Amino acid sequence: MKILFLAKLVGALALAAPALAATASVETLKNLNAAYRGESNAAQRYTVFAKQADTDGQTQIAKLFRAAASAEAIHRDTHRATIVKLGGTADPVTLDAVTPGTTANNLTAAIKGESYERDTMYPEFLKLAKSENNREAERSFHFAGAAEKEHAALYATALAQLGKNPAVEYYVCPVCGDTSVGRPTKDKCATCRTATTKFVNVQ
Ligand SMILES: [Fe+2]
Ligand SMILES: [Fe+2]
Repeated sequence: MKILFLAKLVGALALAAPALAATASVETLKNLNAAYRGESNAAQRYTVFAKQADTDGQTQIAKLFRAAASAEAIHRDTHRATIVKLGGTADPVTLDAVTPGTTANNLTAAIKGESYERDTMYPEFLKLAKSENNREAERSFHFAGAAEKEHAALYATALAQLGKNPAVEYYVCPVCGDTSVGRPTKDKCATCRTATTKFVNVQ
């Protein structure tokens, strides 16, 4: 009888308790906005670099830039959605003007940007989000950081092979932006566990 009463009491309390709204520290919201701005610019920069690669006759590299641009767009949208989910406001983004260089220069600039995000920006943002037990922000930063690591490696390979780049196909995870050469052989995305049958072949 006592147990039944306690069970009813716990149930009633659970119903009465307001749902805990997801929140974030001012600093993590600032970091999410910085990441949102960074990914917005990266998506636009790589789209411009892809056009330049096509103009230069580097069609394989153009495809790589478009694949990375689509991944950055996924990160941009995920960061934005995370800000809103955490009760913050996504700051309006004014995209930087992009003046493309040669495709070799553009690859070098892209490697620099990805390396900074991989080694400095995302690890710092992730560390704070983890210390705050902010799962939503952690997820957003983890998805992007994992893909930037792949992008840096793909760009480095493309630069090393410049002029004799083999024809390969790029596949992008629609949830986390994981970017692979060929469709992954495993069933699930290594970063977010989405079925790899859902990966998108970017042309
Ligand atoms: Fe990237
Ligand atoms: Fe994924």
